[in-house]
Amino acid sequence: MSVLNTIVSLAAAASMMIGGALVEIAPQHNPNGMLFLVNRQEMVCEAYVPVELVEAHVPGSVRRMRPEAAAALEEMFAACKEETGATLISISGYRDYQKQTNIYRRKLRSVKQNVAKAQEYVAPPGASEHHTGLAMDIGQRDKKHLDAKFADTKGGIWCKENCWRFGFILRYGEEWEDITGYKYEPWHFRYVGKEKAKEITEANVPYETWMTGYRTEIIKGLLKEAEGE
Ligand code: DAL
Ligand code: ZN
Repeated sequence: MSVLNTIVSLAAAASMMIGGALVEIAPQHNPNGMLFLVNRQEMVCEAYVPVELVEAHVPGSVRRMRPEAAAALEEMFAACKEETGATLISISGYRDYQKQTNIYRRKLRSVKQNVAKAQEYVAPPGASEHHTGLAMDIGQRDKKHLDAKFADTKGGIWCKENCWRFGFILRYGEEWEDITGYKYEPWHFRYVGKEKAKEITEANVPYETWMTGYRTEIIKGLLKEAEGE
């Protein structure tokens, strides 16, 4: 084997090891898992497209999501109707890089290119959870959309209290601004699966904070395993 071939093989082996370990240690590196963390520090590459997207069968628009999230959304909307009588609507689910770019540019124009102001509510392209197909902006029929007042509607109150039952978390909570980097968005829900949604909701912390603890536990487990070898 030539020196060059050896180097190439070693590099490939190292990259496989790093890739494997990253999926274990940092679940956001498994973009097709449910725990993919996306924010301005941990961004999605422009080319990323979820493996599968389906249309959620709910009233509203921009209904595409990952299949697990779409099924959970349907279940959640039906339960809200049954338990409160309120009709929830989807406003914005999956958004690819280009769509987020357009939204961000529009926002920047509306605030005279003030980046900090624009980013109070809008993620730059690559930094939006909507890019994962696991987030949905929710509204209540006949109410003003993407508005703080959603928090006081029947549907908004119910979603905040019950979303975890369906695998969703309220992602940008009130008073979490310093950690999430966004103002309160009572309309933005993120699917993480039922088990983790319950855990995160009980912990009552931003997803970033919960993820730090989760990663620490995984690393501790890996170290323990290595010690035992
Ligand atoms: N509104 C959220 C932060 C987004 O643009 O993804
Ligand atoms: Zn959103």
